[in-house]
Formats: sequence, C-alpha cells, structure tokens
Amino acid sequence: MTDEDFLVRLREIVGERHCLTEPGMRAGHETDWTRRFSGSALAVVRPATAGEVAAVLRACSAAGVGVVPQGGNTGLVGGSVPRGGEVVLSLLRLASVDDVDADAGELTAGAGATLSAVQSAAGVAGWEFGVDLGARDSATIGGMVATNAGGVNVMRHGPMRRQLLGFEAVLADGTIIRRLPGMVKDNTGYDLGGLLAGSEGTLAVVTAVRLRLVPALAHRSVAVAGFADAAGATRAAAGLRQRLSSVQALELFTDAGLELVMRHASLAAPLAPRQPVYLLVEAAGTERTLTDDLVAALEALGLGDTAVIADDPDGRHRLWQLRERHTEAVNAEGVPHKLDVSVPLARYAEMVERAPALVVEADPAARTVIYGHVGDGNVHVNVLGPAPDDEAVDDAILGLAVGLGGSVSAEHGIGVAKVDWLLRDRGEAAVSAMRAIKAAWDPAGILNPGVLFRQ
Ligand code: FAD
Ligand code: MLT
Ligand code: ZN
Repeated sequence: MTDEDFLVRLREIVGERHCLTEPGMRAGHETDWTRRFSGSALAVVRPATAGEVAAVLRACSAAGVGVVPQGGNTGLVGGSVPRGGEVVLSLLRLASVDDVDADAGELTAGAGATLSAVQSAAGVAGWEFGVDLGARDSATIGGMVATNAGGVNVMRHGPMRRQLLGFEAVLADGTIIRRLPGMVKDNTGYDLGGLLAGSEGTLAVVTAVRLRLVPALAHRSVAVAGFADAAGATRAAAGLRQRLSSVQALELFTDAGLELVMRHASLAAPLAPRQPVYLLVEAAGTERTLTDDLVAALEALGLGDTAVIADDPDGRHRLWQLRERHTEAVNAEGVPHKLDVSVPLARYAEMVERAPALVVEADPAARTVIYGHVGDGNVHVNVLGPAPDDEAVDDAILGLAVGLGGSVSAEHGIGVAKVDWLLRDRGEAAVSAMRAIKAAWDPAGILNPGVLFRQ
C-alpha cells in the first residue's frame, strides 16, 4: 500500500477534517512541551470513538505504520511526539465525562477528557478527584493513565493507577478490551488496567476509564516555611507528616527557583528575609480546627514564628503559585533537561544538595533548578544550558539517583528520554519480563516504537 492509499483509508475512518497532513496543522503535535523532543508525523488523526480508534489501529497494523498515542502533549519525556514517520493518534475528541455515580463516588472519563474537566465533574457530584497537577487544563486522563501521573497529592491518594476502577482500551490489532464500569473489588485474574498505567502508549490505546473519587474536604490550609538547607526542610516534612493526618501535599523548592518564578510570574516572595530552601505544606480535612492544628504542628517543629499560612482561597492560591509555576518559569528560560527521580526520604537532602555540583562537573555552563514532591521522595532536577541531545548531565543525575537507591523516573515516565536507563534501573530480568508483555500485546511493535525500549 502506498502512503497515499494509506492516508485515503485514514480519511475514510476519521473524516477529511480529522486527518491532518499539512505541516502547519501537524506542527503542534510534533514537538513536546519542553521543545527538547520533536519529529515529523506522516499524519495526525483525530478519531471520535473507540470504534474509530480500533479502525485506525487496524489500518496502521496492516500497513506496518507506527502509532504515537497523544493526549494533551504535556508529557515531559518525549513519549508523546513522533520520532519520524508515525501516525500521531490524538485522543482529544474522546472527551466525555459521564456516568457520574454520586453515591459510589465514581465517574467514567473518555481518554481525551482533561484533568480539569474530571475535577469539575467530581466537584459537581460533591466529591474530589484524588490526582492534581499543574498541567490540569491540558493533560488528559488517557495520558495521565498512560504515564501513571503523580502530582501533588500522591502522598494521600496515590498516583493515577490507584484511581482506576475500570478501563476500555484498544490493542494494536484493533481488538477492544472493555472492563467498564469496573468494580472496587475485582480479583478476576490479571489487573490489565493497572498494567496500562505507566505503559506510556506501548501496550494499547486507552479510550476510557472508570475513576474512583475521594471525599471533598471543606477545610484547607497552606503554609510555606523557610530553611537554611534541604536537610532542615526534609526533617520538617517528616515531622509534619507524623503529626498531622490532614497533610496532603509536601513540596520543596529553592531560592534559585523562587527567583525565576517571581520574575516570570510577577509574584512576591513569601518570606522576608528570603531563605535558601522552602517547604510548602497543604493540610485538608473536615475538622474546623484544621488551621489551628497546622499552626500547632509548625510551632512544635520550631517554625511557628517564621512560616506564612493562608486558609482563604486567594491566599492559598498565591502560595501554591510559587511552587506550581516553576515548570513554566524554567521553560521560559530555555529548553530544559528534566530529570524526575525519586530517592528514599533518608537520602532526599543529599540528592538535592549534591545534584547542582554534579551538573556543573558535567557541564560547567549549566544552571540547575530543583524542586519536588518531598512527601514522596520525588526530586525534579531541571538543567538549563546543555544542547537537547547532550546527555552528560542526564547521566550524572540519573546515576546519582540510582546510586542513592532511587528510581530514574518518579512520575514522568521513561519516554524516549531515559530509554538507556531503564535497564540500569530495573535490571535484565525485569526488562525481559516487560519486553515479553510488549511482544504479547503488540507483536509487530507498532505502538509507540522507541518509547520504553530502544527499537
Ligand atoms: P501526552 O503528553 O499526550 O502523552 C504522554 C504519554 O502517554 C505518551 O507516551 C503518549 O503516547 C501516552 N498516551 C497519551 N494518551 C494516551 C492514551 N489515550 N492511550 C495510551 N497512551 C497514551 N506529571 C506528573 O506526573 N506530575 C506532575 O506534577 C506534573 N506536572 C506537570 C506540570 C506541567 C506544567 C506540565 C507541562 C507537565 C506536568 N506533568 C506532570 C507531566 C504531564 O502533565 C503528565 O505526564 C500527563 O500525564 C501527560 O498527559 P497528556 O494527556 O498531556 O499526555
Ligand atoms: C511538577 O512537579 O511541577 C511537575 O512534575 C512538572 C515539572 O517537573 O516541572
Ligand atoms: Zn512533579
């Protein structure tokens, strides 16, 4: 089959308007959010139903053309954009949010529904969704399942995998597997939905999922405290977690990052004088005494006089912006190398303190901006300066994380950015087991070739 015949078939399936071949129309789907990864697609197709997804996959299988599933394209490891010549399968039109069960606290979301849309629907039903992250207006539920996205509330509610009750997905040959709505308790063999969480588009295309919701908590407080070093902030994070069952986010950032955010987003410093390291804590609960309890916990840790606290929506939002806007502030400075690692909490401060020196050793001109979800041992090391394909700083930081007993990807995934590190992190036996699963689900290897495993 010629490329032209193949494109005619794709147009028959999704309609002329939803098969994009013009370079200008494809462009936004061909470069990732960081601008570090890009490639050209044969076409971008936008199916509207699981049936159309299945037909597209059947056509791609028959033609032996690779497929890159894509949601909001906010992924940070290059897995959502083509390497060259694939079909980008955009799931954005599968955006329904329905079958909300307000008694059970569950809803069904199409793969293309944004996180914000799910959060709103949960709120209308008197619940909340357990995962939250800064890209909420663009990141899709399908992409979040595929990356097993984490975000700021993992310490309380877990990552995406923990929210899954049921799923619908399409295999490479067009077979639809459906377990919807799905049950809270369901021990009928392998957890296929759980396997899709973190599969990064390499096993199947997720078209819909059933999600559990969590109780809406009426009272919330956010505090930011300053520290001389990461060790102090990490100790305080552990202390807060031990003292307060209402803690649902513990975030760390440094003064270098704060400086960037303040400049980029025109925000004011939370504390005077400025401090080298900051810890943001959010408590949420049903108790009216929530803020008093947070204050008492901060006082018990010797932070009562220095921390700034807000329990009104505007004040909380202002404090959260200082942490959440790091990603865009770093992106505004250049094309970052984003190294998302996790280490045991006991090594967290060491990771934060040692990373900048290792970066400078690998590239004397590079700048490092560090922040992270300290409650989960997750450190985000962002490096500005090295060329996109220069991996010296990546190797230095990922090597440090592995050496400290950690993981080379806490929440962003492997994508194409860390393919060579999967083996070093997980070892031969685990990677062979993963390859066997890949071969069983996608024997021709058309789904996201080059992601997770080198082709
Ligand atoms: P995409 O970027 O489109 O795709 C990501 C991966 O999933 C790719 O491998 C793609 O092939 C695959 N995929 C997409 N849709 C499907 C599907 N339907 N079926 C099968 N595979 C699919 N991540 C976190 O974990 N925590 C954070 O706190 C966080 N904060 C962020 C803040 C900002 C400002 C930005 C830009 C990103 C952030 N991210 C975070 C990263 C990103 O938002 C997540 O990885 C998110 O899950 C990606 O969703 P997406 O819809 O944009 O997926
Ligand atoms: C975050 O925690 O802000 C996100 O994971 C995005 C990033 O690492 O920049
Ligand atoms: Zn993060």
